[in-house]
Amino acid sequence: MGIAPTCWVSLSLPAFAGNIAHAKSTLAGKARLMVAVKSDAYGHGEKEIAETALRAGADSLAVLDIDSGVRLRPHAGDAMLLAWLLSPSDDFAAAARSRVDLGISGLWQLKKLAREVPEGCVSVHLKIDTGLHRNGALPGDWEALCTEALRLERAGILRVTALWSHLSDTSLKENELSLARFHEAVDQARTIGLTPELLHIAASAAATDLPESRLDLVRVGISAYGVSPFDDRSAHDMGFAPIMSAHAVVTSVDAERSEAHIGIGYAHGLLPLPPETGWVVHGTQRLELRSVEADHCVLALPSNYPLDLGDHVTLWGEPDTGSPSAEQWASWSGTIGDEVVSAMAHSIEHRFIRQ
Ligand SMILES: Cc1ncc(COP(=O)(O)O)c(C=O)c1O
Repeated sequence: MGIAPTCWVSLSLPAFAGNIAHAKSTLAGKARLMVAVKSDAYGHGEKEIAETALRAGADSLAVLDIDSGVRLRPHAGDAMLLAWLLSPSDDFAAAARSRVDLGISGLWQLKKLAREVPEGCVSVHLKIDTGLHRNGALPGDWEALCTEALRLERAGILRVTALWSHLSDTSLKENELSLARFHEAVDQARTIGLTPELLHIAASAAATDLPESRLDLVRVGISAYGVSPFDDRSAHDMGFAPIMSAHAVVTSVDAERSEAHIGIGYAHGLLPLPPETGWVVHGTQRLELRSVEADHCVLALPSNYPLDLGDHVTLWGEPDTGSPSAEQWASWSGTIGDEVVSAMAHSIEHRFIRQ
């Protein structure tokens, strides 16, 4: 028998399936639903999450890099798998073999594709920058990108399946402006001769607040994991349940100093907090946090509080027990909820709840 771990994360696949169904009806509507499983599904475990997403009704998946797409193909059936973070050292032929769609934003990527997969017919999504200034063709380069893509399409090397962009989500007004710029870029591409089947631009926030941005497909990430993309609305307010929760056991109790240690710290991926910030939950009892250290946290105990070695404590992600949410932990830590879940170390045990 192995040594029992001092900390772990729980991941509820039924709750995730429920979130996918909810995203389909409330964020996608008539559009297709692409679920982002980037960065090991935000730390949740890409294989289990990809399979659950597709079983629960997602149409397609998004990853960052080709390697992740190749790894996930055996778990994704025939579903579209889009990779958008391409580097000059990537193996485009491997992407073609695993039918990974490529998010293309530069001429160098088209040249590399023609060189490495000349007989290919790879499916590509051409990306225009509409104001975010992150990984999209600049408007001045768009015509040349579309023209070269059309030439390669006619040569049988690729198929331009989609035109797309990503929004800054800094304000509704900014997103509306970017959407207008996107439509101009689409008109330009069609005039050049491209005939894409899909247009996509919205992620969680715009799909919620700007329904006309849903177009043919929405790419939903963090809200499907039960974490809000907004400052002013929780995932709970949006109808999404948390998937991941963080847990630890009591590893020492010092009654004289009215404090206890639990076996989780920032070396396990727990985001550190300023001293004397936040709380955790034992049963449904709140216990204040004194500090987050490398391999443990220090808890303050009320006098005569009955806490034993090996007792279970929930750090975040189980609001039903009164524990903080990932978003609450993020606000204490001065960051966003995405980081709280994604930062949890691969090396700690991931306990999947399967039904
Ligand atoms: C290009 C792109 N699309 C979609 C998403 C998903 O965004 P969200 O988590 O806000 O739904 C991301 C996340 O970073 C992204 O980079």
